[in-house]
Amino acid sequence: MRIGILTSGGDCPGINATIRGVCKTAINYYGMEVIGIHSGFQGLLTKDVESFTDKSLSGLLNLGGTMLGTSREKPFKKGGVVSDVDKPALILQNIREMGLDCVVCIGGNGTQKTAAKFAAMGVNIVSVPKTIDNDIWGTDISFGFDSAVSIATDAIDRLHSTASSHKRVMVIEVMGHKAGWIALYSGMAGGGDVILVPEIPYSIKNIGNTILERLKKGKPYSIVVVAEGIQTDGRKRAAEYIAQEVEYETGIETRETVLGYIQRGGSPTPFDRNLSTRMGGHATELIANGEFGRMVALKGDGISSIPLAEIAGKLKLVTEDHDLVIQGRRMGICFG
Ligand code: F6P
Repeated sequence: MRIGILTSGGDCPGINATIRGVCKTAINYYGMEVIGIHSGFQGLLTKDVESFTDKSLSGLLNLGGTMLGTSREKPFKKGGVVSDVDKPALILQNIREMGLDCVVCIGGNGTQKTAAKFAAMGVNIVSVPKTIDNDIWGTDISFGFDSAVSIATDAIDRLHSTASSHKRVMVIEVMGHKAGWIALYSGMAGGGDVILVPEIPYSIKNIGNTILERLKKGKPYSIVVVAEGIQTDGRKRAAEYIAQEVEYETGIETRETVLGYIQRGGSPTPFDRNLSTRMGGHATELIANGEFGRMVALKGDGISSIPLAEIAGKLKLVTEDHDLVIQGRRMGICFG
């Protein structure tokens, strides 16, 4: 059996560990042949591929980014490197010509949607959920999330000492796209006093009251963790907008930090390395069993899979009844 593997969308820690998990299991356990496809779906359009041996998979476990390269190529949308052709048809033809019996797609929500469409067209597809945002429906956790939360938590920890020394409010913006998972988990782990996520509406008055109450209790500094996707005036970044509004509301000197791509770079945490390895291995097992059109998922502590058709187009978002939100509110943390 000859399988192709690609990584698509934004990179994150754990992709290389997943590639290693898929390919080592395929080559060493199942005796499959593995073809690495470069730059996501772009490589399927241009046949930009390489053949993997066990040796090409060394040194990947703790390596950040993706050794295959990635792109945001969307084959079912116009544009990209090959624009004037029927891109899905060209990909089907290339998959046939390269003799691929299955394609493993490692990616976020956009990739899962594309993978579902190809699966519906009869391509043998198995996918693995990858994103720091943790917003993929059908899996409890996607790999990359734990690493991003760990980096963001470290950044918040560092803001405490400078905030307290200057008696300032520090606003830190973390990624997450339309979801607030990174803000919620890093905000709670980092001891944020205010945590703003796109899913829960906020009022500057409430945030200001929380900060002024802290001042009255002898706590002259506060940490505000905001997700990049929260509602703003539409002109400023989340951190800048909240910092300006909070300073105006409270009269306390306020500074902002945007953590940015640091959250996506570097080595995966041990949790993500193991999750990637387990998910990668399970993807290969699905192929060996002929179970196509499925996304690997973590459910509780077990690895399983779910039909791509069931998850494509859905977003997993933070809800008000999440136990971290409830517990945070009980302890006096302002969620808006
Ligand atoms: O999906 C991961 C993510 O890092 C989001 O958190 C962020 O909104 C987006 O990608 C940034 O995308 P780009 O790499 O295209 O700037």
